[in-house]
Amino acid sequence: MAVIIWYGGGQVLRDAITIGLLMAFTQYIQKLFRPINDFSEKFNVLQGALAGAERIFDLMDQPTEEYRENLLSDIKFAGEIEFDHVWLAYNPGEWVLKDISFKIKPGEKIALVGHTGSGKTSIVNLMLGMYPYQKGEIRIDGKPLSSYALHDIRANIGIVQQDVFIFSGNIRDNIALNNDKLTDEEVVQVAKYVNADKFICKLPQKYQEPVMERGATLSTGQRQLIAFARVLAYDPSIFILDEATSNIDTETELLIQDALKKIVVNRSSIIIAHRLSTIQHVDRILVLHKGELVEEGSHFDLLDKEGLYYDLYRLQYT
Ligand SMILES: Nc1ncnc2c1ncn2[C@@H]1O[C@H](COP(=O)(O)OP(=O)(O)O)[C@@H](O)[C@H]1O
Ligand SMILES: [Mg+2]
Repeated sequence: MAVIIWYGGGQVLRDAITIGLLMAFTQYIQKLFRPINDFSEKFNVLQGALAGAERIFDLMDQPTEEYRENLLSDIKFAGEIEFDHVWLAYNPGEWVLKDISFKIKPGEKIALVGHTGSGKTSIVNLMLGMYPYQKGEIRIDGKPLSSYALHDIRANIGIVQQDVFIFSGNIRDNIALNNDKLTDEEVVQVAKYVNADKFICKLPQKYQEPVMERGATLSTGQRQLIAFARVLAYDPSIFILDEATSNIDTETELLIQDALKKIVVNRSSIIIAHRLSTIQHVDRILVLHKGELVEEGSHFDLLDKEGLYYDLYRLQYT
């Protein structure tokens, strides 16, 4: 380009060509090269796509989980959960949960608290059969976890996770998921019960409002309310809330608190919430520290003890 302008500039000065011709020429040259540039960019995209495809195929090559289909029974749990000296290491030798023992009676509500990395989510993962544990036993309704089909376990446990996954589709489908038995009225009913109805009705197409994958058009709090509605639609006997510290506006926060109170009724519940105000009304609080269960009791018992819970509480309220 520099050479063309230098040489062409000389020609213009000598009146051999007009400046317009030189301009046109440089413009055309650029037009010529743009598709070639585009082409090499497409090649980069293609490379990226190939790398992605490789990962997808890696994943598809993974052996399938053992679904224990033959044991599938569509049973309904009563909701008694027992951890009996459970040890877990994701990597050999690095114990993430150490000798965890506790028992939750059907319908009892407990809270798990502890610093980040203390193993709260790991306890939930184990209950859902996501990872094998190394020592001890987890029992549901008195029978070892391994005696149930994974399908039965997951059908009986309703979970609201840190990151609520929203599927592309509409709001209704995101609440009912693939449960065809659910009527539109029932969907509206559960949404009303968990306070999700209000914001849904403000959407232009209400329950038919399309949502994008991952729910970019919804706020964190709204996604959580949808997740609550999902859980309620399935009516599981065990409810788990694993909530991250998230910036939820005060109004939605109040709606969530209210929904939570309703959803735990008659369900064994494990609540992991970072705002200790969320968990004060549970029956029992378990305090985890570096994979060990260090304290257990009611909110006031634990405050009296002036241990780890007391420290966590003071950190939030002073
Ligand atoms: N899938 C995993 N593989 C290996 N290490 C993990 C995995 N998940 C969690 N951990 C580790 O286990 C510990 C406990 O994590 P986690 O149960 O997520 O804690 P919490 O939910 O209390 O913040 C952390 O040190 C974390 O790095
Ligand atoms: Mg966690």
